[in-house]
Amino acid sequence: MAHHRPLLAFTLCLLTAPLFPAAAATGEARVDALLRQMTLDEKLGQLTLYSGGTATGPETGRRAYEAMVAAGEVGAFLNVVGPDVNRLQKIALEDSRLKIPLIFALDVIHGYRTIFPTPLGLSATWSPDLVERSARIAALEARADGLRWTFAPMVDIARDARWGRITEGAGEDPYLGRVMAAAYVRGFQGRALGGPHSIAATLKHYVGYGAAEGGRDYNTTQIPERLLREVYLPPFRAGVEAGAATVMTGFNALNGVPASANDFILRRILRQEWGFEGLVVSDWTSIAEIEAHGTARDGGDAARKAITAGVDMDMESDLYRTRLGAEIAAGRVALSVIDEAVRRVLRLKMAVGLFDEPYAELDPDAMVQPGFREVAREAAERSFVLLKNDGVLPLKPDAKVALIGPLAEDAGAMLGSWGARGRPGDVVTLRAALAHRLGGGLIYARGTGIDTRSDDGFAEAVAAARQSDIAILALGEDAGRMTGEAASRTRLDLPGNQTALLKAVAETGVPIVLLVFSGRPLDLTDVAPDVEAMLAVWYPGIEAGPALSRVLYGDSSPGGRLTVSFPRAVGQEPLYYNRLSTGRPVPPEDRSGGGEPLPKYVSRYIDEEDTALYPFGYGLSYTRFSYGPVSVEHDRYSARALNAGKTRIRVRGEVTNVGERPGEEVVQLYIRQRGTSVARPVRELKGFQRVALRPGETREVEFSLGRDELAFWTIDMEHLVEPADLQVWIAGSSTDGQPATTLIGD
Ligand code: NOJ
Repeated sequence: MAHHRPLLAFTLCLLTAPLFPAAAATGEARVDALLRQMTLDEKLGQLTLYSGGTATGPETGRRAYEAMVAAGEVGAFLNVVGPDVNRLQKIALEDSRLKIPLIFALDVIHGYRTIFPTPLGLSATWSPDLVERSARIAALEARADGLRWTFAPMVDIARDARWGRITEGAGEDPYLGRVMAAAYVRGFQGRALGGPHSIAATLKHYVGYGAAEGGRDYNTTQIPERLLREVYLPPFRAGVEAGAATVMTGFNALNGVPASANDFILRRILRQEWGFEGLVVSDWTSIAEIEAHGTARDGGDAARKAITAGVDMDMESDLYRTRLGAEIAAGRVALSVIDEAVRRVLRLKMAVGLFDEPYAELDPDAMVQPGFREVAREAAERSFVLLKNDGVLPLKPDAKVALIGPLAEDAGAMLGSWGARGRPGDVVTLRAALAHRLGGGLIYARGTGIDTRSDDGFAEAVAAARQSDIAILALGEDAGRMTGEAASRTRLDLPGNQTALLKAVAETGVPIVLLVFSGRPLDLTDVAPDVEAMLAVWYPGIEAGPALSRVLYGDSSPGGRLTVSFPRAVGQEPLYYNRLSTGRPVPPEDRSGGGEPLPKYVSRYIDEEDTALYPFGYGLSYTRFSYGPVSVEHDRYSARALNAGKTRIRVRGEVTNVGERPGEEVVQLYIRQRGTSVARPVRELKGFQRVALRPGETREVEFSLGRDELAFWTIDMEHLVEPADLQVWIAGSSTDGQPATTLIGD
């Protein structure tokens, strides 16, 4: 048998070494060869990314795109799909001097044609494998329409519900953000970027964009380096480690320096510390906007600052193409900086296979395959978070149902704020799904619009409720106008007169199930007491109706959990669970309602509690779960051993389904460290598992904490595990559970 060994060793070495070293060398040699032949204008053309929808012609600074492509003045397009891809590609390949293929990109965020729940909803599934599968399907469909690049995932941590783009990410927690970032990247890019169903991913918006002051989109951000490294950077790093091909810079100025001209985050952290070798693309006109921020005097200055800081490609500003020539001629930008950026563009094109197969194999039949619908339904079902239930859910099969509200049959809204090429016609609405389930028995009344003051429809809605055993209210935000980019709000209530409609229906005494469709946490303080049950359902995608109907009737139990804190009042924002304590926290006994009147000189508001109405990690189920005590393997650990990676802290807990129905629980691991050089958050998520349990079933869950989970940026800005008292919770939300404690000594 011994003679088999060398063969095995040889095979292993083949598996670990780059598969085709020769081909890789040829790739780089090809890049070199091209670079040697390129004129400066052709180089700047490769750094230019245009949108298909932008006007061309006199006074726009752009000639017809066909002419510009033929002249080698454009390297990439966004917002061009389908047959236009091959049409423009043909011009690049046949008419341009160097025949460098174009790369086509789009915002494929939560599906391409098969639309899944919005990313905030997907994060509420706490199911990275499902997120990965959804991104895989999105990649396959996008690829079948000519695309090789998506501007996703958005991995911005968002702690402020006023910010409209909170809907595009995985919420407020950096640990969950890391897990989800990596899942999206794996899904979009597949095993190999050059694969037939893969597209290049983009981590955006680098970095801190979600910390916009006041939650106002595009606003400035002030983030101390420790916070940046502990909260905002980790999801980007996880995405880089998962192999993301590109990164997009944010619109925000970070500590006074626009992200699109920020040497510290781009060169120092992304390139030097993390070793990122992919492409950095600006956001839409974010290079031109450096002037508005005030750190560039004119467009030339902006272009120089951006390229020098490390932004390789210019989306829509058109300043690299038009202004960098003069900057180089004046000696303000080195040609080597341009060459480096061009190399990255060419390498990306090579990695996604464009030099070998430049044309798209368009395949309309690839879209919305039955299996894709299945995944969309599963994702939607898993994303719903049951916020309240007085026992009316699941619905009785024979109950007479009134369906009320503007979102019950709004197919377009179900596609969320980034519908890519999703079609309202593909959506099964809640109304359609319930009508299908109940046959003729469903009464529907719209009641009101999303954002109107007219109460014309109230009477009909009230009458519908009166004839029924239960009223399902489908209320919420306008997906397109009130969520996503440029959709920040100062109020977090149900828009228009939807609350008034709800109150009118509540007066009938007919029990209400409220479905909240939203792109953000809403302030539900005013409506919660009026409803018997309430679910946060985000925008569920094309299978909205079937998924909602299945959950309402108990074919499956809601297992989604919040990934963002729902406030009691907008004035609490920014609100997030992993906050620092104060010197005067509200005593726990006062929280539980013990101390009336509340003490004055503690950190609270005089008119509202400081806690969330529904906290991070929260969500009910049709069954109930109970937790056994948490145990930590040893009562003392050594910080040195933890730092050296020589030991891990093993933690165990037990969860039991103590109710009558099967259900899924998201078991969450939290920690707190005390006695450290810098204050640590009151709780931090460090692990989770979504587990399915039959009635009466108990599951032992095990986690372990090592350097990666326990290290933080110390007072000396070293990333280390410090000696500390450690508390560990295994619980069903960020505010539940009894901690176990252990000591981390020297
Ligand atoms: C601006 C948005 O900020 C960004 O997320 C998006 O990728 C680009 N527009 C392209 O559509």
